[in-house]
Amino acid sequence: MNNTSLIDLSKNENSFGPNPHVVTALMNIVEKISLYPCMSGHKLKEILGEFHNIQPEQIVIGNGSVSILDHCARAILSPGDEAIIPRSTFIAIPQIVRDHGAHVIDIPLSNWVIDLQRCLSLIGPRTRLIILVNPNNPTGTCLPQETIINFLQHVPPHINVVVDEAYIDYIQDPSAASVADLINEFDNLSVTRTFSKAHGLAALRIGYSIMPQPVAKRINAFQLPFSNNSLALEAAALSIQDSDYLKRVRIHNKSGQEQLCSAFREMGINYIDSVANFISIKLGADTKMVFDYLKARRILVAPQASVNMPDYLRVTIGAEEQNSIFLNYMREYIISSTEGIPAYEAV
Ligand SMILES: Cc1ncc(COP(=O)(O)O)c(C=O)c1O
Repeated sequence: MNNTSLIDLSKNENSFGPNPHVVTALMNIVEKISLYPCMSGHKLKEILGEFHNIQPEQIVIGNGSVSILDHCARAILSPGDEAIIPRSTFIAIPQIVRDHGAHVIDIPLSNWVIDLQRCLSLIGPRTRLIILVNPNNPTGTCLPQETIINFLQHVPPHINVVVDEAYIDYIQDPSAASVADLINEFDNLSVTRTFSKAHGLAALRIGYSIMPQPVAKRINAFQLPFSNNSLALEAAALSIQDSDYLKRVRIHNKSGQEQLCSAFREMGINYIDSVANFISIKLGADTKMVFDYLKARRILVAPQASVNMPDYLRVTIGAEEQNSIFLNYMREYIISSTEGIPAYEAV
């Protein structure tokens, strides 16, 4: 890699790269882009229905899972309602809640894990929606399935619980944390998933949600005709059936995680243990300076002040060479910062 090219470790993209089988399949259908896609995405819904052992009518497909989170909020929230969400989480979630005129109520994190007991105590007469993110972004922490089941058993049935499982495929055993299997046991539960992360299809903008049929029907009614493009539908249908690729993505991610974490330990940098494809590192008073130092050297990481973690930068686990370049600059920063940061010289 050319040292001067941008290394973007700020968006939690999949540094393993796209699935080659999917790329080949898309090449073969790209000449058909003059045709409209399937109106409802029924083929993908059938494949996802089989994958999750549910009815295709329980599935909503969206242009990225973020659009489904937005549709859920639109279907569920009215102005003045309350939505309970983790205090530090995916930045789009509080924005979506506020966009629909509802109030955000924060769930505190305990040792960076979403505190579900506290969440129950925050439920009030205007609570309509609870959104959990599991594994959570930017902490990378994960709640076990049994903890969420116990929580769901205590949530009043008129309150909808949406669990965003965007990073679930990075866990060695996703079934230990996912509540996707429980959709038919709780009438107020929805789970959103994305193809943007472990499946490596971020540019295609496709995600989905599984939910009780009546909620799916309401949300599908918001969808404009032909809103999911053919390439994305085809790629998602192939990718969901390729568990081998996901295994390779996990191995790649684990080795990048070890590379980064051992270097952080050696440098004395504190980090939050993550099960996902990113790690949040604690830099305290140096946070902004490190961000600027890296940015000047064409490395992007994600500041977290906007989600109540001003002392942290979130770093996506990159490919080995990207990680090495990033780590070298971190070492350089640490050495130089004791003597004042040197002016950046273009390489
Ligand atoms: C927790 C979480 N959910 C959803 C998304 C967005 O996914 P999509 O690309 O499917 O809209 C992200 C993106 O970073 C995320 O971190």
